Amino acid sequence: MSNIDQLTQLIEDAKKAIDEVKSIHELNETKAWYLGKKSPLQAIMKTMKDLSIEEKKELGQKVNECRDQINKLIDDKRVALEEAKILEKLNSEKIDVTLPGKKVARGSYHPLTQIIMEVESIFKGMGYTVAEGPEVELDVFNFEMLNVPKGHPARDMQDTFYINESILLRTQTSPVQVRTLLESKGAPVKILCPGKVYRRDDDDATHSHQFMQFEGLVVDKHITMSDLKGTLKLFVNKMFGEDFQIRFRPSFFPFTEPSVEVDVSCFKCEGKGCPMCKQTGWIEILGAGMVHPNVLKASGYDPKLYRGFAFGIGIERVAMLRHGIDDIRHFYTDDIRFLQQFE
Ligand code: PHE
Repeated sequence: MSNIDQLTQLIEDAKKAIDEVKSIHELNETKAWYLGKKSPLQAIMKTMKDLSIEEKKELGQKVNECRDQINKLIDDKRVALEEAKILEKLNSEKIDVTLPGKKVARGSYHPLTQIIMEVESIFKGMGYTVAEGPEVELDVFNFEMLNVPKGHPARDMQDTFYINESILLRTQTSPVQVRTLLESKGAPVKILCPGKVYRRDDDDATHSHQFMQFEGLVVDKHITMSDLKGTLKLFVNKMFGEDFQIRFRPSFFPFTEPSVEVDVSCFKCEGKGCPMCKQTGWIEILGAGMVHPNVLKASGYDPKLYRGFAFGIGIERVAMLRHGIDDIRHFYTDDIRFLQQFE
């Protein structure tokens, strides 16, 4: 067989071999066989030295053509193999969009969080900003600067968990009053502060050693008790409904003077008297009063120029009234059947 015929045959063979190749790995091996150092092409090249110049030129050209053709066959096959692989992957990963979807479990806000968001939005609407304070608090802020010195009998009602002599778990959100006044350095103040508070109490249906309060504080030059009354009336009507009445009862807090306790008309009997309101027609929801001059003074405000009102709302109380919940412990025992009712 002449060299030229051999080359034609070689292309034929390569074509067949490449056709049968099933993988990239096999293709690489086939390439090495037909175009590598020990390939038939090289053997044909070696016969060149015995040929005339004319023949050398002709054969060289044919060898190059042959190599180019085999290379092209291999490249085409490589593309085909890769495409086939992608296609196979696409087919194997095909999803059935008609299958029913998996339901993602949906959570919801805790009922207390829902109340907090609602109350915040009511007071923000009246121009309040939301403040925060630490739950681990200094005795000075929780008691002393609120006009409750060491040994004051009012401390008995608010016994708490002490970290040491001067640090405790706050018993009320009122220390945020002091913190805010100190930070505001004599400027008018209008804040609302929700947060957890602690007391050394035995837990029962209406008591918890940890519960939540809203503190409100407004300090400016012309604040009067009627501002407090109007503010609380508006809050109660927005929170519970336009038909609800409020009533102020004289009370005592060391950091307000005068002090009041505020009741709303019973939502269950609408004031007629029932077990819920202990036959009084009223339910207590908060304590409030005009900021005591000593508190203003201690925080750098001149009580002759500035006045203010403050109030403390029990958040659980509001939530219990709102939803008719009969036991405060429900909020903290994480029973999913309880929580799911507030989705
Ligand atoms: N801090 C008081 C309490 O926990 C409530 C209160 C707040 C009273 C602000 C008056 C003014 O009982």
